[in-house]
Amino acid sequence: MDHYAVFGHPVGHSLSPRIHRLFAEQTAQQMEYVAQEPPLDGFAKALAAFREQGGCGLNVTLPFKEEAWRLADHRSERAERAGAVNTLICTDTLYGDNTDGEGLLNDLRNHLGVGIAGKRILMLGAGGAARGVLGPLLDEQPAMLIIANRTADKAQQLAADFATDGAVEGIGLDALDGERFEVVINATSSGINGPLPKLPESIVAEGATAYDLMYSPEPTPFLRWAKEAGAFRLSDGLGMLVEQAAASFELWRSIRPTTEPVIEALRHDMR
Ligand code: ATR
Repeated sequence: MDHYAVFGHPVGHSLSPRIHRLFAEQTAQQMEYVAQEPPLDGFAKALAAFREQGGCGLNVTLPFKEEAWRLADHRSERAERAGAVNTLICTDTLYGDNTDGEGLLNDLRNHLGVGIAGKRILMLGAGGAARGVLGPLLDEQPAMLIIANRTADKAQQLAADFATDGAVEGIGLDALDGERFEVVINATSSGINGPLPKLPESIVAEGATAYDLMYSPEPTPFLRWAKEAGAFRLSDGLGMLVEQAAASFELWRSIRPTTEPVIEALRHDMR
């Protein structure tokens, strides 16, 4: 039996074990997948123990993605750009990858029918979640990607870090007046860390898609706002979660699970 796990803190509510067990069933893989919560200063130790016990691969979630990046012996190019690792492959060496951006793009494309190429994209937030998906979004060649953040400096810095990857600009949330976007992505942790910031409804173009990287059984505050603002398509991040997991699973097992029934099962669980 091959062993896999997700490391996070907290990890109690993680859907990853359920997702990967459904994938394993669907693809007839002999594997075990558990959730583990190392102490905040104990990630490296827990990782070493996991490898010692013959663990094959790990998902890494908050707050350990940057530490996983540092500990990896080598990394994929997309993990390199993201500055964070959500998937580790454990052999004699430790390989780090990041499937978050692929997960977002696959969910947008395959489940929502939304492409990024040639569109005006707004990314709200300039933290780790935003950085993790920026490279793959820019690879799709949007007409323009604006990062808008409460702290304008951080948005400008993040845009500067990705300047060679495409048309990207960083601004403060207060500079959004008069702008319009076809896809608006929420990568802030507002909702957990305070209320949704005030946003002009006019930024949502006709026919626009609003996507929240967070997921919850109830519409998130951002999605409630976007609906009021007239967004045509609304989605939380559950599809992205399942898609990033499918990409990790394929890296480990060389077989791609089908995501649709797993997304449906999770939605059903949440009801
Ligand atoms: P994560 O890894 O989830 O991205 P993070 O790196 O701490 O977490 O980043 C959180 C992001 O949400 C930041 O862009 C933060 O804005 P600041 O850079 O100005 O702090 C944003 N954020 C958090 N709470 C917010 C709130 N109540 N209103 C607006 N933005 C908020």
